[in-house]
Amino acid sequence: MKLKIAVLPGDGIGPEISAQGVEVTKAVCEKFGHEVTFEHALCGADAIDKVGDPFPEETFRICQEADAVLFSAVGDPKYDNDPTAKVRPEQGLLAMRKKLGLFANIRPVQTFPCLLHKSPLKDELVEGADFICIRELTGGMYFGEKHEGSDMAYDTNKYTRPEVERILKVAFEYARKRRKHLTVVDKANVLASSRLWRKVAQEMAPAYPDVTTDYMYVDNAAMRMIQEPRFFDVMVTENTFGDILTDEGSCISGSMGLLPSASTGSGTPVFEPIHGSWPQAKGQDIANPLAQILSVAMLFEHLGLMEEGRLVRRAVDASLDAEVRTPDIQAPGAPRYGTRQVGAWIADYIRRN
Ligand code: IPM
Ligand code: MN
Repeated sequence: MKLKIAVLPGDGIGPEISAQGVEVTKAVCEKFGHEVTFEHALCGADAIDKVGDPFPEETFRICQEADAVLFSAVGDPKYDNDPTAKVRPEQGLLAMRKKLGLFANIRPVQTFPCLLHKSPLKDELVEGADFICIRELTGGMYFGEKHEGSDMAYDTNKYTRPEVERILKVAFEYARKRRKHLTVVDKANVLASSRLWRKVAQEMAPAYPDVTTDYMYVDNAAMRMIQEPRFFDVMVTENTFGDILTDEGSCISGSMGLLPSASTGSGTPVFEPIHGSWPQAKGQDIANPLAQILSVAMLFEHLGLMEEGRLVRRAVDASLDAEVRTPDIQAPGAPRYGTRQVGAWIADYIRRN
C-alpha cells in the first residue's frame, strides 16, 4: 500500500515523541512492503511563533492531502496563564478537528498487566479493565456560541440531532464489535442538551437489540470509573464530559503516557496521544513515547492493516516485558531509558519479528 502521512509534532515533548512515532511507522512499512512518505507541518505554539496561526492553511492542505495525520501535542506555558492572549495553541487543535470534520474521538482505556501497580487505584480493581470512551469532538461547549465580557462570560452547550445521531451510531457499532455493552453518559437530570442525547439514544437503541444500553449521569460515571472500571465496555459522551473522563481514564492505566486516540469523521483521520505537551520535560528525552506509538497501531488498524497494528502492539508489550521503559513507568532498580532508546528498541523489534 502507498501511504502518505502528515506529521504534526507541535509543542513541548511533541517533537520528541513524534520522531518515535515516525520511526515505528517506517519500521512497519519496511517490514510489510508499504511505501510511505511523511510530510511535516506546523501547528500549535510553534506555528504561532513561526507564522502567527496555530493551524495554518498550509498545514490544513497537507492534512487534507494525506491518508492519515500523526499528531503529537500542543500547548505552551506562556499562553496558559495569560487569559488575554488573542490566539492560543489549543485553537490549532480545535481548528484541525473542526476543519477535518473529526466528530468521533476514540479513546481506549486499557491496562498493562506489568503496570497495574502504577495506577493510583488498587491492582484488583484495575486488573482487566478495558473500555473505550467515544468522545464527541466537534460540538458542545467547545464550539458553541461564546461571549467573553469583563463582567460576564458564557459558553453554549449546543447539540443538534444529526450531531448526536452520528456519534451514537459510531458508539453502537463499536459496542457491537466488543462486549455489546454501551453506556450513554450525560447529565439529563439538569441539561437540556443531555436530554436530547438521551432521547436520541433511546430511539436508536431498539435497532441494536444485541447491545445492552444503559444511561448514566456523568458525575456517577466519574465515580463508577474508579470504583468499578471493569463495568464499562463502550462509553459515549459529549465533548466536554469526554475530555474530563478520559484524563480520569488515564489513571486507570497508570500513566498519561500510555493512552492513544483516534479522531475520525469526514476528513483525514488523526492519531494522537491523549496527553498534553508536558513543556517542563521538553528536550530532556524522558517523555514516554508509547501513547504516540500506540496511536500508530490505531492508524494502521484504521486503514484495515490489522496485522501491522498487532505487530506494533506486540512490540510495545515486548518493550514493557524487557523493561525498556521511560522513567514514568520503569520498574524500581531497572536501567534508565530515554524516549529515543525506547522508540528505537520498538522499531528494531518490529524489523526483527
Ligand atoms: C484533549 C486536550 C484538548 C481538548 C486541549 C489541548 C484543547 O485536552 O485532546 O483532550 O480539550 O480537547
Ligand atoms: Mn483533554
